[in-house]
Amino acid sequence: MEKNTAEIIGVEVQQSNLGSYEEARLAFDWTDEEKRFSWHETGQLNLAYEAIDRHAKSGLADKIALLYSDPEREESYTFEQMRQESNRAANMLRGLGIGKGDRVFIFMPRTPELYFTLLGIVKIGAIAGPLFEAFMETAVRDRLKDSGAVAIVTTPTLAERVPAHELPELKHVILVDASKPVEKEAAGAETDKGLLPEDSPFADFHALMHEASTEADIEWVEREDGLILHYTSGSTGKPKGVYHVHGAMVQQAYTGRIVLDLQPDDVYWCTADPGWVTGTSYGIFAPWLNGVTNVIRGGRFSPQDWYETIQRNKVTVWYSAPTAFRMLMGAGDEAVKQYDLSSLRHVLSVGEPLNPEVIRWGHRVYERRIHDTWWMTETGAQLICNYPSMDLRPGSMGKPIPGVEAAIVDDQGNILPPLRMGNLAIRTPWPSMMRKIWNNPAKYEEYVRIPGWYISGDSAYMDEDGYFWFQGRIDDVINTSGERVGPFEVESKLVEHPAVAEAGVIGKPDPVRGEVIKAFISLREGYEATDELKAEITKFVKEGLSAHAAPREIEFKDKLPKTRSGKIMRRVLKAWELKLPAGDLSTIED
Ligand code: WT7
Repeated sequence: MEKNTAEIIGVEVQQSNLGSYEEARLAFDWTDEEKRFSWHETGQLNLAYEAIDRHAKSGLADKIALLYSDPEREESYTFEQMRQESNRAANMLRGLGIGKGDRVFIFMPRTPELYFTLLGIVKIGAIAGPLFEAFMETAVRDRLKDSGAVAIVTTPTLAERVPAHELPELKHVILVDASKPVEKEAAGAETDKGLLPEDSPFADFHALMHEASTEADIEWVEREDGLILHYTSGSTGKPKGVYHVHGAMVQQAYTGRIVLDLQPDDVYWCTADPGWVTGTSYGIFAPWLNGVTNVIRGGRFSPQDWYETIQRNKVTVWYSAPTAFRMLMGAGDEAVKQYDLSSLRHVLSVGEPLNPEVIRWGHRVYERRIHDTWWMTETGAQLICNYPSMDLRPGSMGKPIPGVEAAIVDDQGNILPPLRMGNLAIRTPWPSMMRKIWNNPAKYEEYVRIPGWYISGDSAYMDEDGYFWFQGRIDDVINTSGERVGPFEVESKLVEHPAVAEAGVIGKPDPVRGEVIKAFISLREGYEATDELKAEITKFVKEGLSAHAAPREIEFKDKLPKTRSGKIMRRVLKAWELKLPAGDLSTIED
């Protein structure tokens, strides 16, 4: 590969929590980070305690923890109020007989109740399973079933997508009216469980929270005890439950300090939904472990709404995704000029490659350079990053954080020299690394098949100065608007449609979304390839699986390329799409 000649942008060296990267790296030791937690002294460990109660008890009781708004509500909660509301949620769940190790799902829009509930789940040592609200019935069922969830906290509308009758282990469906703050009493607050019959799985969140005490005993756990399950997609099989433990807090807090560069007076905004790992590791854990004011904005994306959110809350640190930045860029410079964004000190991105063009644009209009960070659902926290005090190379993901070793390895695990492309690998373990794939040890083994290394599934190279450059996915996983979609899940839904005989799904490059989902479909006898049918099939996936997984483009083919064992060859579909040579066809059917 040719020597990289990309430009280097020197950053006006900011006063930052990290200081010099090289010095920090040499001096680093994870055990120093552990000493920052109260459990290091007391032996009593729980992530929710460290994120909320500890601050409420050590001088930050009246500091704003949550600055919430959506088009209908505007509320703020101090660390002490967060402590009390999450205690109520903990007591509510305990009252239903839920306890340590149980899986409790959350399926609701971003409202304060979501955050109380998630912290309450963690406080009782149960395992949280956050679901993105766009998921439809099939997606919800698969995840609840695989995890053996005993309860789900959701809204009456979203509960229609929870097929409780098909889920024998699901004992409780707790309904939240998301338009109401907990304190403003729910209609059913006076009644016991909202007048529901004894054997009904349904319970009224507001009624239960109202009667629950604001004091609760925290379940002290081990570092290796379960914290959260994030379902994510691979190229084959159903979505997999990535299992994280309380010990992840060490790295989440550390990266919050040195990568997000959080400082006591910051107002921090991470735009991700807790249905995705960014929305929990960096939308909940990292900011609160650092005792920082956390902005949550509900509702949908619009450039005006987002700029208004920054202006109104005086956001200082902003963490978002390339797709969002590209959409903001698309909305133009004029949109930026209508707002005062001068509070911004540090801007970061994750999820997909961050185009150098976007960094240059951000520098011009926000007067801040967008700092790219690389990590995955499986890694639990950031691993390769651009730090505030580091020279940026636009297009590079940056360098590994202190305490983490990254390398490019070949399929046998040999470390490749600089500028050679190969598997992006991380030396195992690190504190926030997933501990297993729920119910699926074989899947976990695939990541650690080379002894001593975690194989990410990304291909990349490292330049001569140690910066890492993303090249692509090695598997067929699609990254659309920063959200990971498994082609298999979409194909499985497609073939449920009566007109579809076979389907193959690929990611097609797209200037705004990174990739969009394109489906190649062969039809059953008697169906005609019309535009109406395309629209109907798209709707079928949207309503059955989720909007973000529905194909934006469908192409009908008489026949799809398959291996002799009958597997659809997505790489051939991709080559068709990109008008590239199809590569090795020795296994093709005919
Ligand atoms: C995949 C992980 C955890 C963050 C949200 C996405 C891609 C992530 C970058 C980046 C290029 C990136 C990789 C990775 N990705 N960050 N900075 N540059 N690609 O988490 O859904 O688990 O997806 O997203 O392909 O493997 P995820």
